[in-house]
Amino acid sequence: MTIQSGGDRRTPDQGIAPRDSGGRDGYHRAVAIDLEFNPFDDATRRDPYPLYERARRECPVYAHPGLPIVSVFRFDDTQAILRDPATWSSHFPPPPGVDPKDVPEPSMIGQDPPAHTRLRSLVSQAFTPRMIRQLEPRMRQLAAELIDAAVAKGEVDFVEALTYPLPVIVIAEIIGVPAEDREQFKEWSDRAVANLGNALFAAPSAERLAELGRLFDQMGTYFAALAEERRRVPREDLLTGLVQARFEGSKLTHEEMIRMLVLLLVAGNETTTTLIGNAVLELLAHPDQLARLRAHPELMPTAVDEIMRYSSPVQLDPRVATRDLDLRGVPVRKGQIVVTWIGSANRDEEVFADPKRFDVGREDNNHIGFGFGPHYCLGASLARLETQVAISTLLAKTRSFERPDDELLPLHQSIVFRGVTSLPLRLVPA
Ligand code: HEM
Repeated sequence: MTIQSGGDRRTPDQGIAPRDSGGRDGYHRAVAIDLEFNPFDDATRRDPYPLYERARRECPVYAHPGLPIVSVFRFDDTQAILRDPATWSSHFPPPPGVDPKDVPEPSMIGQDPPAHTRLRSLVSQAFTPRMIRQLEPRMRQLAAELIDAAVAKGEVDFVEALTYPLPVIVIAEIIGVPAEDREQFKEWSDRAVANLGNALFAAPSAERLAELGRLFDQMGTYFAALAEERRRVPREDLLTGLVQARFEGSKLTHEEMIRMLVLLLVAGNETTTTLIGNAVLELLAHPDQLARLRAHPELMPTAVDEIMRYSSPVQLDPRVATRDLDLRGVPVRKGQIVVTWIGSANRDEEVFADPKRFDVGREDNNHIGFGFGPHYCLGASLARLETQVAISTLLAKTRSFERPDDELLPLHQSIVFRGVTSLPLRLVPA
């Protein structure tokens, strides 16, 4: 597959910040290379990093042959796009052939300022680092219970035992939905994210769109009933806060409230599950770093951010061009989708010292695994703390843990995520 990569023909209004290319090939001159980038390819998804490295060097902006999609691989380009919603919108056009009337309004993640700003301000208070720190004792209790049960069994699927239940119970408690319904949430979350992002590179089928419509109807009915309960009997939870915002003049519509609840329930589940799973896998793959972390538990915060960087759960973050422009010589038309590859940006050698090294004590780790700009992950503090608590509890309660075999683990179906959906582990008690 031959592609053209752009030379440095940037103009001031291109929405891309200047950078010193450091003489990387492909930046100052147009070159034709064979990138062979198929985001669905299993081997590429398991280890996309050699391809990303080559793409950053040889074709930092890549127009996918035969598709109206452009991929962006460098850190500074990704950051410049994500920080500029006026040029790069989060509000996506309906897929080809789909009537815009049949596409529901998106939640805040698919809105631009000022609508996005208004919606986000209604929930942001519940997710500040201070609010999240208050949840730590409860998280530690949950993690201890789940890991004790896993250690007692000896061999478990760690996704079922810990990485799925911990984040879903915590977010259910924050929102104020019964954690006992978590099997139902899992079924909904799985359906919601099963093919997330895949339609960027291959149009979704009519059945998939209809299935998503049914799913949001079901979740909407569930939340509407709970919201009605909170209206009658308020509690100290986020759901009550949203219900009150709805009735106290913030102009939050019923539909906006339901979409917010669906987003909050879904956005933090698969992502955090994947991060905790990736943490276990990277520590197993780097025994020296595992030993260092056991000896220096105070490194847990930098370790978790290093996993976010080195093995980013969310690999891509797309935007839509709001006007015709030119990205490093590659023309982009208004309405065209540009995919920023967070997973690649987080290994950019221009930004991170020795980016291929997994270093649990890494300082100056300015990764963009939680996105950047106005849509920066609302749950970043929550996800960080959950993962720190999960891994520190695992280390404290086990002498060792290992995979019982070296079978290839099943990958998430959605190309947005890089992580496994099942993780058999053998746990030896401390
Ligand atoms: C490791 C775990 C997580 C990762 C990797 C992650 C990643 C991301 C990324 C990359 C974005 C930016 C999306 C964009 O630019 O359009 C985002 C946004 C968001 N995340 Fe997370 N997330 C994680 C955990 C959570 C958790 C636990 C919650 C729970 C509330 C959450 C809620 C959200 C919400 C609501 C948004 C949309 C924010 C907005 O539109 O302003 N995330 N996340």
